[in-house]
Amino acid sequence: MFDRCSDRYITFSLICSFGFTERWRRQCVAALPAPRLAGTRGYDLMAGTGEVWPHLLKRFGDIGAITAVDISSGMHRRAMERLHAHRAHRIAFNEDNVLASDLPPESADFVISTFGLKTFNPEQHAQLAALIARVLKPGGVFSMIEASDPKGWWLRPLYLFHLRVVLPLVERTLLRGAQDFAMIGTYSTNFGSAAGIARLLRDQGLEVEFTRYFFGCATGVAGRKAG
Ligand SMILES: C[S@@+](CC[C@H](N)C(=O)[O-])C[C@H]1O[C@@H](n2cnc3c(N)ncnc32)[C@H](O)[C@@H]1O
Repeated sequence: MFDRCSDRYITFSLICSFGFTERWRRQCVAALPAPRLAGTRGYDLMAGTGEVWPHLLKRFGDIGAITAVDISSGMHRRAMERLHAHRAHRIAFNEDNVLASDLPPESADFVISTFGLKTFNPEQHAQLAALIARVLKPGGVFSMIEASDPKGWWLRPLYLFHLRVVLPLVERTLLRGAQDFAMIGTYSTNFGSAAGIARLLRDQGLEVEFTRYFFGCATGVAGRKAG
């Protein structure tokens, strides 16, 4: 599915979120504790078209390398050709399934991930939490964010209407009948919030802070591996 979506993904997500996806990526980077050393290297898990890299490289200009990890090479190919050619020397790519990954232990100073959690179930979140705990070096840092279900917010019905009705409608009209994003509302409400993955990361021994963004329409986790 993601190979099919890669051409339209960026435009769609920017327009339909009224810019919120960009704001949340920036906030996810802001929540990343500062890596301890200059020239750090790390992973962008479920990297897609590398939307978070400009924010990451702006905040930490001395990052040595980002390895994009994604199951879809279509997303990455397009990203490198159209968007990131000028920073290609700092980007590596690993076509990999994070749920069955053999990324080396203690190989990352940081792990970042934006909008890659909602399609996974709790068992898969546990696998991901174990992967993050394994690949981080002692003292390594992480931050992740995902669109969530803003339970208790009085405008929640309107927000869910936007996700479940407006987005599929825009998709059918603007994206000429594509059906690739019609599940976003369902995925986000099934996901709930990042509170579950926060617990799983703590179970792995990581220090974790949980944050709600814009009334809980997005939630995130950030923290550090002791050491
Ligand atoms: C919604 S996109 C997020 C892209 C980007 N990080 C962003 O900020 O928009 C989710 C990405 O996760 C990738 N993905 C889905 N399942 C995966 C898996 N099991 N392992 C690695 N990547 C996966 C997809 O190919 C897709 O590029």
